[in-house]
Amino acid sequence: MKIYKYEVIVITENINHDNTFNNIYIRLIGTGGQIDTHSSLRNNKEWAPFNKKNKKTGSKVSICSVTSSTSLGKLLMIELHKQHDPSLSEDSWFLARVQVNSPEGDTYNFPVYHWIDDRKVYLREATALKDSDDTHHLSRKSREKELNQRKEHYRWDVYLEGIPHCVKAHSPLCLPSEVRFSFTTIQMGFTGATGITWLKLEGLSDRKDNWTSMNYIYQVYRSRRTDISDRVQQLWRNDAFFGYQFLNGVNPMMIQRCTVLPENFPVTDDMVFPTGRWTLEDEMQKGNIFLCDYKLLDGVKTNIIHDKKQYLAAPLVLLHRTSDDELMPIAIQLKQKPAEDNPIFLPTDSEYDWLTAKIFVRSADFNMHQLNFHLLRTHLLAEVFAVSLLRNVPKVHPLYKLLIPHTRYTLQINSLARQLLISHDGVFTKFAASGGEGMITILRRAQSSLTYSSLCIPDDIAERGLHSAPNFYYRDDGLRLWDIIHRFVQELLQHYYKNDAEVQEDSELQSWIVHIFEHGFLLQDSTGIPNSFCTVAELVKFVTMVIFTCSGQHSVVSSGQYDYGGWMPNTPISLQRPPPTKKGTTSEATMLQTFPDISTTVHGMSTMWLLSRHSTDFVPLGHYPEDHFTEEVPRKRIHAFQEDLKHLNKDIKARNKRLDIPYTYLDPAVVENSVAL
Ligand code: FE2
Repeated sequence: MKIYKYEVIVITENINHDNTFNNIYIRLIGTGGQIDTHSSLRNNKEWAPFNKKNKKTGSKVSICSVTSSTSLGKLLMIELHKQHDPSLSEDSWFLARVQVNSPEGDTYNFPVYHWIDDRKVYLREATALKDSDDTHHLSRKSREKELNQRKEHYRWDVYLEGIPHCVKAHSPLCLPSEVRFSFTTIQMGFTGATGITWLKLEGLSDRKDNWTSMNYIYQVYRSRRTDISDRVQQLWRNDAFFGYQFLNGVNPMMIQRCTVLPENFPVTDDMVFPTGRWTLEDEMQKGNIFLCDYKLLDGVKTNIIHDKKQYLAAPLVLLHRTSDDELMPIAIQLKQKPAEDNPIFLPTDSEYDWLTAKIFVRSADFNMHQLNFHLLRTHLLAEVFAVSLLRNVPKVHPLYKLLIPHTRYTLQINSLARQLLISHDGVFTKFAASGGEGMITILRRAQSSLTYSSLCIPDDIAERGLHSAPNFYYRDDGLRLWDIIHRFVQELLQHYYKNDAEVQEDSELQSWIVHIFEHGFLLQDSTGIPNSFCTVAELVKFVTMVIFTCSGQHSVVSSGQYDYGGWMPNTPISLQRPPPTKKGTTSEATMLQTFPDISTTVHGMSTMWLLSRHSTDFVPLGHYPEDHFTEEVPRKRIHAFQEDLKHLNKDIKARNKRLDIPYTYLDPAVVENSVAL
């Protein structure tokens, strides 16, 4: 009688808890039948706990063989059962993948890359299959079961009415085991206290008094610096640098070309061009006038910190592109409604009038940046993309394989942010000007202003009229990165979707976008977000936006937080005096009284330091250490993607060499695959 021998190779990865001492049973299921491993893999002498790690990859390999009197045909899936042995302690087991070599000479891969707990799990063979390609009755049954389970495990929750919904989980530890990964290190480090210790600021965290001198601020700042934060410290008073930050700082999202002055910003030629050399009309026509309008912050209720009312301006800033391509601020109005007690500040005003006006703008920018462009438009949306994927798309689907690496840690970090940053006693709530009720107002208004086009950098740059803005590295690098991601997504998805009809008929894909439309964009057609996909091109653009948002855009608004915010005067998270109502009332002393108090400052510094770090096991954009795709075509596409990213990395590095302040936040080598911190 012929014996069919299957070699089963179990591979764990280089992380803690990659061993289990529990019993493991495996069933191989193919088109021709099924067989079980007769005893627990634990009894096998090749079982992982007793093996040495591969020094290069850190992985461990366990091998066993299973025999059958008949061929199993084409392998479809594996049923894996971890069974707790009462004589041993329970353990968690992180399994990377299983490989099976059949007697016919075929190799089957079963990607896992998640924690295995004490219940049966079904692992599908790695070939990516859309619903319509998955025809075997056992596969179909497993597909349906998987999605039903996922809908149980990943439920939507409403943290706050009027903003994107989130995953239902009271804490990161309540999240389903399969998305928990190896998260402990980040979690332990993600507290304000840790940041304060790192920055050696322990003695200052309770100091409710004001700064008494710029030198004192500098002495405290010196404890933790970056090359860029040092340049910021040197340049923060400089007008050209103030303008530069709207293009290449941590928030390049506010600036737009100005073709008509807003009615509530009555700037005149005499004010801004006293020599008569230019007129606003001419310069606007030439595309040389730019505007930043913080109207979204108008009337927002501000925080009370250490029993003191805080202040947040809703400024309008006008900027002029000079003949040597600098962007100079030429007028600042700190409140939206023009009035006698709301002067338009000018560079020709006294040093401290003008500097104070710029400080109010920088503080407004911090609050707008953190809530609208960082929290809402990257973190919260990334969570919606991820939860919808986990609920609606099975692991064997090509979209799941493509996007799951771009969701890594997102649910955990957002869950932590809800616990530690924006909760009732969170750092942001306690120490930012807009913490508390103001934050809710800003988030809801920001949600109302959300559009699909503003999330797609080519459309966004066009809408803001920024094609000719000078030295705009966010735009230059961002457009190139978008194109690279777009090409990758297009070539990969076109392999699976041969025509538009296949997109329209893919019910799992359609459910994914329906849930995003409902839970991320709250059913608002005005956002321009699709609620279905009709064409391959539409799908490709949307998926490009998802990957760009979770990787590059998050890096833009996140990585430079300490670079630009570590030196507090450049980015005060709150201000203690109201905007001046007339000119000639400011001095260095009033500026120091306006700055946040010492405790607020050091909490802000430590949080920005924590949030601008990479996760402890950073994975750069386009790197996929988990082999979800095993077929030749997607693997080739991934390789081409990585080559394109290398070119971009090289070009950005070369460009940065000739810049006083390098722009690194979209360098693929420093962009993380997902919103992970
Ligand atoms: Fe972040």
